[in-house]
Amino acid sequence: MAIDILLGLQWGDEGKGKIVDVFANSYDIIARFQGGPNAGHTLEFEGNKHVLHTIPSGIFHPKTINLIGNGVVIDPIIFIKEIQDLEQYNIDLNKKLLISKKAHLILPTHRLLDAASEALKGKAKIGSTLKGIGPAYMDKTGRNGIRVGDILALNWENKFKNLKQKHLSILKSYNVSIDYDLKNLENNFFESIEALRKFELVDSEQYLKEEQKKGKKILAEGAQGSLLDIDFGTYPFVTSSTTTAAGACTGLGVAPSKIKKVFGIFKAYSTRVGSGPFPTELFDNDGKTLAKVGNEFGSTTGRARRCGWIDLVALKYSIEINGVTQLIMMKGDVLSGFDKIKVCTGYKSESGKMDYLPYDITSQDIRPIFYELPGWQEDLTGMTDLKDFPTNFKNYISYLEKTLKTPIKIVSVGPDRKQTIFR
Ligand code: IMP
Repeated sequence: MAIDILLGLQWGDEGKGKIVDVFANSYDIIARFQGGPNAGHTLEFEGNKHVLHTIPSGIFHPKTINLIGNGVVIDPIIFIKEIQDLEQYNIDLNKKLLISKKAHLILPTHRLLDAASEALKGKAKIGSTLKGIGPAYMDKTGRNGIRVGDILALNWENKFKNLKQKHLSILKSYNVSIDYDLKNLENNFFESIEALRKFELVDSEQYLKEEQKKGKKILAEGAQGSLLDIDFGTYPFVTSSTTTAAGACTGLGVAPSKIKKVFGIFKAYSTRVGSGPFPTELFDNDGKTLAKVGNEFGSTTGRARRCGWIDLVALKYSIEINGVTQLIMMKGDVLSGFDKIKVCTGYKSESGKMDYLPYDITSQDIRPIFYELPGWQEDLTGMTDLKDFPTNFKNYISYLEKTLKTPIKIVSVGPDRKQTIFR
């Protein structure tokens, strides 16, 4: 049985959580393959609004199993808080949630290291979510990390102490002051570890292999976005994991030959949180309008997101890297009310024009080349049928499809499950 992947094509916050939730009824298993609590997947249904950070977005569907894969990094404190927040929904989490023993743990000192590293960088800071993501992945690749399965061993606290000591000596050498109550964090951490132990901890690659043999349908859920990928994003202003399609293979232990559909999600415009290049960023009233109408504030950190027009150069690149088979366009409704809508079709810099994302995008002064399309005034949020869409919105969709050479199969016109239109 094939596995499908759903991932973001921009700088994250495309609306992956909403679409996984919409799709969840058609899949037996939803499996998160990378990232950690830096993600904030917002789901809205039946008057509820819920933000998930580590738990896959299929959790609200009665039959769907949710798996946290080996590629994810888990902060037990944030994870248990998420579990407590779900109590109101009476979900049988012991049956519906599985965690890979190979997923790595975020320790309290990883958070301290993240904060210290950012402080040390000063103006050049990444704008990290300060959840300890970078340091936790550094320990994973540095072969020092502690994995979820390790907490089942009697002497695991020795491993914890050794790693903590190492972190404290690195922190000392950083020589920056950061305001954290480590003792309190550690108490919370150990309480949360006890709670984590009660979940079903599995060899997730084996589990997925067996379920595939039984013909079960699996959707791999990405976090962040392709332009934040550790290899292919706007390095160094990226996250520390593989957010692109290849990450589903390494983050779940599934073979590339098993991947079938790759759903690529993008917003009808662009946003970015944190530092780093953003060629189509707007600093004028249009940018302010996008931020306000789109309610562009981070669901994990509450930070205001930077806003700009859609960047088709970057989108094409993401589509190619991921092998996207179909596109999903989010937040089309936010563009209502503009007289003209701009789309970026190329870049220019001192060295001339280009139609690709240059390797040194972070150090070049890249300017967008825009093409203008007529806007529309109608409110799209109540529309449930393609036929109701204003002509200029339909033209916008067709223009994107033609330029990106990939079909747009779903258009979302609001945060609720119901505001999802299939084409
Ligand atoms: P980190 O992943 O917390 O280290 O942050 C690295 C960069 O990725 C920062 O610019 C963050 O703002 C950004 N980032 C991390 N997670 C997300 C996300 O889920 N959505 C959007 N941006 C993110």
